[in-house]
Amino acid sequence: MDIRTAIENRRSIRKFKPDPIPLTDIKELVRRASLAPSVNNSQPWHFIVVTKKEKIADIAQMVHKKVHAVFEGDKTNVTKTVDYFSTIFEKAPVVIFIAAEPYEAIADELIPHDRIDEMRQRPNIQSLGAAVENLLLSAVEMGYGACWLSGLMVARAELEQTLGIEAPFELMTAVALGLPDGEPGRRKKKDLAEIFTLID
Ligand SMILES: Cc1cc2nc3c(=O)[nH]c(=O)nc-3n(C[C@H](O)[C@H](O)[C@H](O)COP(=O)(O)O)c2cc1C
Repeated sequence: MDIRTAIENRRSIRKFKPDPIPLTDIKELVRRASLAPSVNNSQPWHFIVVTKKEKIADIAQMVHKKVHAVFEGDKTNVTKTVDYFSTIFEKAPVVIFIAAEPYEAIADELIPHDRIDEMRQRPNIQSLGAAVENLLLSAVEMGYGACWLSGLMVARAELEQTLGIEAPFELMTAVALGLPDGEPGRRKKKDLAEIFTLID
């Protein structure tokens, strides 16, 4: 599959068949993710892959609990919606958690690192974004479906503990992966005219 087809066919997949994914494929996806550009080539990522059903169910429970604690007393449908989108990985055969460690900048010896990081708009988080996109596009190319997950970060502390993520690493994001079960619904993308400015 060429890159254009992978880009055009990629969709956020939220329903998965229960079939397990071969470990060789999971490793290949992570390897391709790790080829992404990163600030100063720091490769600030670590991929923690969970395939154990019970562990995924436990993690989903943690997230359900935390969502309800955070929105306690909410009488609207917001909690229900947030809860759904935060736990769509519940039935996925694979969940890939991605942790990041701080990068070093050449200018660290001149000004505080946090200032550099702020000035450069958190380039290690940007690096992780590039890695995740590599992973998502590779998943399409390999016949899988995936969904980027940030809703579950509501339970970050609990997740870091259960996944054994320790400082200086921090959990940043996750991806659900599996064989797609059905077609995702339609989604609208902005027109080019709305998002494009040319300074010629
Ligand atoms: C940083 C990021 C976080 C996301 N977090 C979630 C999430 O927690 N749950 C979810 O169902 N989808 C999540 N998504 C998927 C988006 O909802 C999805 O990309 C968007 O609706 C567009 O649909 P498409 O991916 O099919 O083009 C996330 C996407 C990104 C880029």
